[in-house]
Amino acid sequence: RRGLLAYLVAFVAVFVFSVAAMAKPIVIKFSHVVAVDTPKGQAANYFAKIVKERTHGQVIVKVYPNAMLYGDRAAVEAVQMGTIQMACPATAKFTGWLPEIQLFDLPFLFKNSEHLHKVMDGPVGKKVLNLFRRKGLLGLAYWDNGFKVLSNNKHPIVLPKDCKGLKFRIMSSRVLEAQFKALGASPQVLPFSEVYSALEQGVVDGCENPWSNLYTKKFYEVAPYTTETYHGYLGYVLITNAKFWDSLSPKLRTILEGCVRDATAYERKLADELTKKQRALVLKDPKVKDVVLTPEQREAWRKVLVKIYPKFYKTIGKDLIEEAIKEGN
Ligand code: LMR
Repeated sequence: RRGLLAYLVAFVAVFVFSVAAMAKPIVIKFSHVVAVDTPKGQAANYFAKIVKERTHGQVIVKVYPNAMLYGDRAAVEAVQMGTIQMACPATAKFTGWLPEIQLFDLPFLFKNSEHLHKVMDGPVGKKVLNLFRRKGLLGLAYWDNGFKVLSNNKHPIVLPKDCKGLKFRIMSSRVLEAQFKALGASPQVLPFSEVYSALEQGVVDGCENPWSNLYTKKFYEVAPYTTETYHGYLGYVLITNAKFWDSLSPKLRTILEGCVRDATAYERKLADELTKKQRALVLKDPKVKDVVLTPEQREAWRKVLVKIYPKFYKTIGKDLIEEAIKEGN
């Protein structure tokens, strides 16, 4: 009898153990469009690393960079449908879903990074993140890239009038469209993965990017006139599928929330460092002709571009715009 009992106990133990060992990890597919050596690319990998460590392999994050899985638009749809679980598109890419988010694309809205982070991490930023639920998504965090520079392959751009007649690639955003129209240029929506060849083949003459994207995708090779306008900001919202996130056990969710917090701090610090480092690397190329604006020249850009704000009082919300401006005072 005893032998039988011991046998039974051993059998049950082995069975329970094997079932636990066989339990499949939860897989989070995380798609993004930029290179690995960017703040977003590095932080996505860092997030994957700490999630694996802290959940002891119960959750595995698989990162797909360089638009190898999806472009941003398709990625948002895939997160909505639950085909993938995470993405981190630029705010402009959400225009079709949540037009209010274009707040972050308004030129000359933020005086500097301090002002920007005050808005993101304060009541305005929270209000915008809360809107994501409306679309079955969760806005988990804001990730940085940086302020944008213009680059083109026709001539040096110093003043707004120098943009007249040029074709600029934009992300799909009404604000960015209005911005280039206000400069007398023609905006053209193109996916990020097509920018290099569009510049090379003359489909567009220029584009706007933070230094990190400009460097890692080598846009300066095909558009060597850079202008440090820093007219607008490019940053991201880390999103997940709301149902997926809500279905996680409270324990796992708490661990993942901690990973999001730490990856966000890591990402923002890196954005700052890579912007400086990668700017220097672009400027090292003898073909690059860079223009640094005087405060007076930059003021001329500001004057032209802030004129587009009233066009967006309805879609973004006049209150939201004014609240964001006030945070910088
Ligand atoms: C772009 O399309 O220019 C950006 O959204 C790319 C990125 O993710 O930084």
